[in-house]
Amino acid sequence: MASYSTSSTALMVLSLITIASLQLFHVSSFEFQVGDTTGWIVPPANDSKIYNDWASEKRFQVGDSVRFRYGKDSVMEVSESEYKKCNSTHPNFFSNTGNTVFKLDRSGLFYFISGASGHCQRGQRMIVKVMSSEESPSGGGGTSSGSRAAVLSYGVFKLVSLMSYLAPYLF
Ligand SMILES: *[C@@H]1O[C@H](CO)[C@@H](O)[C@H](O)[C@H]1NC(C)=O
Ligand SMILES: *[C@@H]1O[C@H](CO)[C@@H](O)[C@H](O)[C@H]1NC(C)=O
Repeated sequence: MASYSTSSTALMVLSLITIASLQLFHVSSFEFQVGDTTGWIVPPANDSKIYNDWASEKRFQVGDSVRFRYGKDSVMEVSESEYKKCNSTHPNFFSNTGNTVFKLDRSGLFYFISGASGHCQRGQRMIVKVMSSEESPSGGGGTSSGSRAAVLSYGVFKLVSLMSYLAPYLF
């Protein structure tokens, strides 16, 4: 009986450590909220480039995601020529849930448009450039790397507090 409960405690501890480690590795990816608090809307007529302005200030890496928040609208990922023509007939990806997370699973360019009639033409579209992880940072994007560091140190903090909690069982 005693050896059974010891091994099940050890198993539990091991599982918790594994979960904590996974969280730690997971923080290398980052989620960006498109347009920040503005969300995904038709831009004002005198400021129609808000999304490309927003995206050009960010540093996107493979594995990051972009979250679109919107009302009665939609988001599509399309080809470059479809982006240029605001052609929404054959999107690679479509969502109209109001809260869409799109994972940037490769490097290169992603083209997003609104699928709502006339919205893309009025500037509700965005190009996201994703860097491969090998590309070294070269200026700009300071805010996103700062957030990454904060998330990472939070992950380390959680792991350390978990370890100290478990220490009596381990040693
Ligand atoms: C756009 O117009 C609004 C008023 O309609 C004004 O408050 C705003 O500053 C303008 N934005 C730009 C970028 O010109
Ligand atoms: C939109 O794109 C599709 C292919 O994705 C094409 O068949 C169609 O002709 C295009 N429509 C316009 C108006 O360009």
